[in-house]
Amino acid sequence: MNKDSRIYVAGHRGLLGRALVKRLAEKGFNNVMTKTRAELNLSEKTDVDVFFSAHKPEYVFLAAGKTGGIMANKTYPAEFLHANISIQDNVFEAAQRYDVRQVIFYGSSCIYPKSCPQPIREAYLFNGEIEQTSEAYAAAKIAGIIGCKSYNAQYNVKRFIALLPNSMFGPYDNFDLTSSHVLSALIRKLHDAAHRKDRQIALWGSGAPRREFIYSEDVADASIFAMQNADKVQNVHYNVGTGTDCSIKELAELIASVVGYEGEIVWDTSKPDGTMQKLLDSSAILALGWKPSFSLQEGLRLTYEWFKNSYL
Ligand SMILES: NC(=O)c1ccc[n+]([C@@H]2O[C@H](COP(=O)([O-])OP(=O)(O)OC[C@H]3O[C@@H](n4cnc5c(N)ncnc54)[C@H](OP(=O)(O)O)[C@@H]3O)[C@@H](O)[C@H]2O)c1
Repeated sequence: MNKDSRIYVAGHRGLLGRALVKRLAEKGFNNVMTKTRAELNLSEKTDVDVFFSAHKPEYVFLAAGKTGGIMANKTYPAEFLHANISIQDNVFEAAQRYDVRQVIFYGSSCIYPKSCPQPIREAYLFNGEIEQTSEAYAAAKIAGIIGCKSYNAQYNVKRFIALLPNSMFGPYDNFDLTSSHVLSALIRKLHDAAHRKDRQIALWGSGAPRREFIYSEDVADASIFAMQNADKVQNVHYNVGTGTDCSIKELAELIASVVGYEGEIVWDTSKPDGTMQKLLDSSAILALGWKPSFSLQEGLRLTYEWFKNSYL
């Protein structure tokens, strides 16, 4: 990938898309194309074909898709399935037809079986039952990974690379409590509690489940790294994590210190906990030479800065 290569970042207004555009600009890539959903709806096959035919992107970061937390996944499974399947199918077909050099597709850690051994290795993908709450989203993402494998195999190319980030966070994350993921929801709740000077806050579950969080710019850097080292890529898909997890309780305490919440945190154990641990084994991408740069503390500080200055 050269500095003037034609690069298309799909979903540039999302959490990862924003980080990709920022890191590509900082690294000197000067020919980055973006389109809003209103300008190019990636679920529309003909429109996607026309765009690829006219602009001939050489590299595509496919960071567009329908995302959300447990509630959103449970309420709108058909939308999660249709949006993600149609976007990836249309982009894969166009990328193959118009000879895109490399496409990065994003899967997700939630596609692994719910009772996986930890840390989760890439090879565990089909070793058991997937989490019911995000079944439709996971099915679409699994189809995307099989898509990468199938296009590469049938056309004898190394065009499609799938990356599976663990829970991502950063500026431009979703802080709407009806559809957000756990980390951004905790920032929102603890910020509001600090603001109101609440003496106590009750959070869902026991706080015991362990999760791995990765800053969006680290995922962007891993993606640019994968594009630039595509010749070294052997696997169908690569996990992308920091290698370190923490309990939700530890996360809440860390966020409380970042946002200045001084009250007590109590845990509402009548609410479900979900999977007890979700830690990725990212040794395969580390072995290729990528490594994360942001600690959880630093990422939280940067995210909260953005939340205070730009979101509120
Ligand atoms: N967030 C995570 O923790 C996480 C973890 C692992 C993997 N991933 C995967 O990484 C990718 C990026 O995630 P993210 O968190 O950055 O997502 P996000 O913040 O929800 O952003 C998704 C972007 O896709 C765009 N989009 C959705 N449907 C579209 C359509 N039909 N046509 C054109 N654009 C469309 C959205 O546009 P609008 O702004 O118009 O809605 C938005 O800009 C996704 O594939 C996701 O599944 C995310």
